[in-house]
Amino acid sequence: MESKAPHILRGFIDELRALFKQPLSDDERWRRIAALMPALIESPELRASARSWPEHGPGEMPRNLLFYEDPDYRFVVNGLIKKPHEGTPVHDHAHTWTVSALMEGEEHVTLYRRADDGSRPDFARLEKLADHEVRPGHVDLIPPYVIHEERAGDCRTISMIVRSEKTGSFPQNMFHMVTGKVTQSPGAAQFPYDLDSAQS
Ligand SMILES: [Fe+2]
Repeated sequence: MESKAPHILRGFIDELRALFKQPLSDDERWRRIAALMPALIESPELRASARSWPEHGPGEMPRNLLFYEDPDYRFVVNGLIKKPHEGTPVHDHAHTWTVSALMEGEEHVTLYRRADDGSRPDFARLEKLADHEVRPGHVDLIPPYVIHEERAGDCRTISMIVRSEKTGSFPQNMFHMVTGKVTQSPGAAQFPYDLDSAQS
């Protein structure tokens, strides 16, 4: 567990903890977290550090680099690198909240909604809700059960992500567009990465 705030994220994590301490609705709390992201991804120290973050190997999935996990509120701060043209499956984040800010590169983001009544856990008919190209500085707020996919453009992308809990420890829905099949899987694994030792 990464419970010690790394030096370059200390101010940001203090702000996150203050928001978790307040009696806010989830919706309001995560809107305020989203509002903190533009300043975070403009941080020259963070951007310099990102140049040495490790990329996943050939054939591996993009890695959620785990920079911090809060010991009290369980939220995590991740960095995520996608190589050119790498994308995610169509998926949701189950009951969790996510804010993702694009620091480098361009991505194509697609949002879907269920066009069926949701009565079958293993089947879904999806309708495309929105489809857009996002550039550095773009912040996505992903509430529970929102269905989406992202794909990197011609260059690699780097995102900073705050999640209400770490992926890999609960089942997420994966949607198979051709067959309509829905499967559950634990989602992306987390890879602890010490930003402080990477700096020194
Ligand atoms: Fe996602």
